[in-house]
Amino acid sequence: MCGIIGYTGTQMGEELSEVLMNGLSSLEYRGYDSAGMAIANATVSVYKSEGELSELEQTLPTTLEGIAGIGHTRWSTHGPPSDTNAHPHTSCNGRVAVVHNGIVENYQELRDALEADGHEFESDTDTEVIPHLIEAALERGDKPETAFRRAISRLEGSYAVAAVVSGDEAVYATRHQSPLVLGIGDDSYFLASDVPAFLEYTDNVVYLEDGQFVSITPSGVEITNGQGSLVDMPVETVEWDIEDAGKSGYDHYMLKEINEQPHALRECLRGRPRELDASIEIDELEGLERPERVHFVACGTSYHAALYGARLFREQGIQTNTFLASEYDVDAIPVDEETLVVGVTQSGETADTLGALRAANRIGAETLSVTNVVGCSAARETDYVMYIRAGPEIGVAATKTFASQQVALAMLSRALTGACSSAFIKALRALPDQVQSILDTSQAATVADEYVDADAYFFIGRGYNAPVALEGALKMKEITYKHAEGFPAGELKHGPLALVTERTPVFSMLTGDSNAEKMLGNVREVESRGAPIVAVTDVPAQVATHADHVLEIPNTHRLFAPILANIQLQLVSYWVANQLGRSIDKPRNLAKSVTVE
Ligand code: AGP
Repeated sequence: MCGIIGYTGTQMGEELSEVLMNGLSSLEYRGYDSAGMAIANATVSVYKSEGELSELEQTLPTTLEGIAGIGHTRWSTHGPPSDTNAHPHTSCNGRVAVVHNGIVENYQELRDALEADGHEFESDTDTEVIPHLIEAALERGDKPETAFRRAISRLEGSYAVAAVVSGDEAVYATRHQSPLVLGIGDDSYFLASDVPAFLEYTDNVVYLEDGQFVSITPSGVEITNGQGSLVDMPVETVEWDIEDAGKSGYDHYMLKEINEQPHALRECLRGRPRELDASIEIDELEGLERPERVHFVACGTSYHAALYGARLFREQGIQTNTFLASEYDVDAIPVDEETLVVGVTQSGETADTLGALRAANRIGAETLSVTNVVGCSAARETDYVMYIRAGPEIGVAATKTFASQQVALAMLSRALTGACSSAFIKALRALPDQVQSILDTSQAATVADEYVDADAYFFIGRGYNAPVALEGALKMKEITYKHAEGFPAGELKHGPLALVTERTPVFSMLTGDSNAEKMLGNVREVESRGAPIVAVTDVPAQVATHADHVLEIPNTHRLFAPILANIQLQLVSYWVANQLGRSIDKPRNLAKSVTVE
């Protein structure tokens, strides 16, 4: 996946390149193995470089001329990271430059045809066919906008594309199954993969739809459909401010986002729990009835949230299954009109999850997305959408969105089954303050200090805590690059116990629920093998004798202890990674949303 930006307006030359650089730095979470920009004037000037944005910055001249520009930050799919494979890509004569997020599936066929016509290619990318297709249409006499449309009509796959042409002051763009938003400022127009790229300049946004084309010039914007007819799209005001999208003084986005969880949870809860009749109302789900059965499809952290959510539904007598989205196969798994397929996806752009939801749509199942990003592909392509309202999450490691997903799914399980209680609502409402108290008092940094040199980290929990054990391990792996595993605690003795030594701390979720006794038994098993025990617990007095360290969480409803326990685990991973000097917000090899299958 990649991030794209386009701009035209009152900022020209070096100021224009500054707008693009600022935008790209907000989009770097989408990919950061190379970056580039193109500025159009009488000619098109292209600057690009392998590596992070700082490398690109060094290639920029001190003076620049131009009125329209595009930029790109890349996460490689076709061709390794290199200066040549970095976007923008240009046509043979250099008149056209293009940035692209997505995959052109038929690029080989297009490339063969273009090469047969004499076009010469420089990169290994699928994207490079686009500027050549535009150039071919221009040479046949098309105007730039028509040439752009004609080129796009040849593409198969997913794309958000923006292009500039020399001697033309417009940026042309379109989307198909990849995100693209339009920002409208004072005599300034922006196109980007995500809103934070231009939030510094404007909060007026148009969420473009698949198949729409947009051209921005210094004097205005035109949105058209596939047939070329003008389309009137609503302009929405984004409620996030630039502070939300920046680091606000924290060293890392991840730490900022961990600390934003009380606010995120308040937003997620806003207007949904009703004390009066002890019910949960989710306005956007009006009309959605109690389902016969539910399939959850999700990846990574969202999959762990789905495992947690599925248990909540099962407890209400609803048959549920949870699938890694990449393994969801409607031909092999019984799905029918009585099945509600729920895609849990922070970004709403994860290709595996979208693929599973599309398959469910095809077969006639009801579909629902639980997502954070307004106007994302998942939201557009499902029958229903529930927003988790966590606000922008920039760190690649999902933190606040996981907590918000857990709370959203807890509410969903009650809203769709009608089974709720005053105690449930009271406990839900208490969560933001309880998370705050963990953030204020956590000893996670001390625990991280003690175990930073450990050989590996294990995480165990039972029942509702089991998904959090998996999540604790995923977070530790992704940001520390160290070996970590999570297990439902009962499984340890069936194999993983062989890995446990005095150099492998075991983080044990010991909450005072019906699993407490059995959990203690599992802890004793690792304790007797000499492994250090870190208890994450709401009953510290009962577990202290079995633990080398205690990370305490406040007492809550038995269903919400995993939400609180996870906050402590996030902090431990963060502080271990920080001690190790890792690239916490942009771990190696990863990207924020993975738009390839
Ligand atoms: C979590 O820290 C990861 N960034 C990753 O596992 C992520 O949760 C997964 O790629 C799914 O993303 P989504 O929620 O945007 O669909």
